[in-house]
Amino acid sequence: MKQFYLTTPIYYVNAAPHIGHTYTTIAAEVIARLKRAEGYDVVLATGTDEHGQKIERAAKAVGKSPQEFTDLISAEFSKQWTELGLQIDRFKRTTDPEHHKKVQELFLRCQERGFVYKSSYTGAYCVSDELYANEAKPGEPCPICGRPLEEVTEENYFFKLSAFQDRLLELYEAQPDFIQPEIRRNEVLAFVNGGLQDLSISRTSITWGIPVPNEEKHVFYVWFDALTTYMSAVEGEGRWPADLHLIGKEILRFHAVFWPAFLMAADWPLPKQIFAHGWLLFENDKMSKSKGNLLRATPITNVVGIDALRYFLLREVVFGSDGNFSLDALVARYNADLANGLGNLTSRTLTMIKQYREGKVPDVPVLDAVAAQIAATQQQAKAHYARFEFSKALESIWALIGFLDKLIMEEKPWVLAKTGEAARLDTVLTSTYRALQVICDLAHPAIPASIDKIRAQMGQDGQVGDLTPVFPRLDAKLVIPQMQELEQAELARQNALLGKTPEVEPAAAEVSAVSPLSPEITIDDFVKVDLRVGLVISAEAVKGADKLLHLKVDIGEAEPRNIVAGIAKAYAPETLVNRKVVIVANLAPRKLRGIESKGMIVAASLEGGSPVLAAFLEEVPVGARLK
Ligand code: ME8
Ligand code: MG
Repeated sequence: MKQFYLTTPIYYVNAAPHIGHTYTTIAAEVIARLKRAEGYDVVLATGTDEHGQKIERAAKAVGKSPQEFTDLISAEFSKQWTELGLQIDRFKRTTDPEHHKKVQELFLRCQERGFVYKSSYTGAYCVSDELYANEAKPGEPCPICGRPLEEVTEENYFFKLSAFQDRLLELYEAQPDFIQPEIRRNEVLAFVNGGLQDLSISRTSITWGIPVPNEEKHVFYVWFDALTTYMSAVEGEGRWPADLHLIGKEILRFHAVFWPAFLMAADWPLPKQIFAHGWLLFENDKMSKSKGNLLRATPITNVVGIDALRYFLLREVVFGSDGNFSLDALVARYNADLANGLGNLTSRTLTMIKQYREGKVPDVPVLDAVAAQIAATQQQAKAHYARFEFSKALESIWALIGFLDKLIMEEKPWVLAKTGEAARLDTVLTSTYRALQVICDLAHPAIPASIDKIRAQMGQDGQVGDLTPVFPRLDAKLVIPQMQELEQAELARQNALLGKTPEVEPAAAEVSAVSPLSPEITIDDFVKVDLRVGLVISAEAVKGADKLLHLKVDIGEAEPRNIVAGIAKAYAPETLVNRKVVIVANLAPRKLRGIESKGMIVAASLEGGSPVLAAFLEEVPVGARLK
């Protein structure tokens, strides 16, 4: 049997699961179902990423040992997938001893082949993304999340990433669909074309990690560890290489550059494809723990059902792009497409067969026009699914629903029944019934539980079963407050689990989880930093850099300053205009994406979240110095 092996990211356990994780896992589960329907023997693996500095800090912040902490949160993830009814085939924890063996094996193979050496690293590190930012300096914004980079100095093992530039470029060239979608592929090409620096793959400053063989103090860099989970999850099963790694776009570099290079160094087969989807945005912010704006999945599904959520995520968000999440939109989609659309068609079709034909589906050919529409829909939906264009696949399936609604309106079966046009009535009833069967087949991977219910009502051997509404209409005024209330309860439960006091806002609780204080300085050190009040005159996105905004900020000089800031994920440009901000005015200029940035904008940066700009409550003149 042909095999298909796909993975989701191995989620960090520094927070309990939220709807962002659910999004990827649902998409992966849909792909697994599509492949199974095509006859593949499919394995879907997910798991938890439990080592590293970020987790060590999160555990400490709630007074738990890393092991206790990760046991708790990892269980939250596996329980979540069960509660949501997602079919997960392998759940791998990076704390699993079998996984440790695999990581050590990978390292030894890289070492034997001469791709590992020991050296000292001093430079910038982002704890939140666990990223060595060789190209940046400490204090500068992380290229991924925009939070200030911390300085680290360590004696480390290094991986000779620089040796793989050509081979990686050849790979991307030879396999144009290795990285999807195209826009992400181009980002990676630009990054690798820009040259690769060797990568530190061990750490001595932390102990919460997998030990490096033959070393006392080194543990593996968490990404060297985490990526290897994709192999250890199916160790001994003959399923490697993976056919697909499904990830969010912010971790593309690790998957499309580091991971294939590690595997090339070890002389192990490479995964076939990496697909990086976009972010779910909540009121236009990336859902994030520190902003406290993330939603949990079960408070939604416990009120409106899992398929309402699945359908919304797949239909509303163009897979690959960012998309907004809101409960209003979710309820609106449900009512329009599920209650009125599929639900209504099902109940009309089956009710008429019961009413006019005693529940027996007439055994006659379907109308030519319907047959043609069915064939076209099948062809379109399958082509879209194959490209992971879920929203388009569902759109084409729902176009068939629209077509059938129209057919029923035009044919008026209730009139045909009255006027005794039995043959025409048979044809119309059979046509809608057969088309509904096809709709069920095509929609099943997206909303399996609901389709199973519809199929039960459609009955077997052409005999319709008992009818009950599959998608009862939702009253937004009723269900949204219910979901919000459950969300609060779930948040409180998770906080209690994490040892947080329920009164504490998540953002505030996390402040205590951020880095220890920097070394003491004198007032003389401080006055070297010239902080000024600035007024944002204009703000716009920087082309080709979705994290960066180009601001013009008036600090009372002859001309406003150009400042490039890594805050695009947290602030829409138009919301910044006319806003007072704090600028580090005497920072050496730096070129970012071809724009000279003269100064830095001051923001609080929270573990696991977006930057929050410093602001004033009272009136303050432009150019005033902060001291
Ligand atoms: O990055 N929108 O784990 P993580 C869409 N441990 N997807 C989202 C999302 C959002 N707002 N928020 C999270 C890590 N995700 C590493 C991975 S893999 C070897 C190691 C999803 O807990 C999305 O898939 O930060 C994203 O890439 C992933 O969760 C990040 O999960
Ligand atoms: Mg993350």
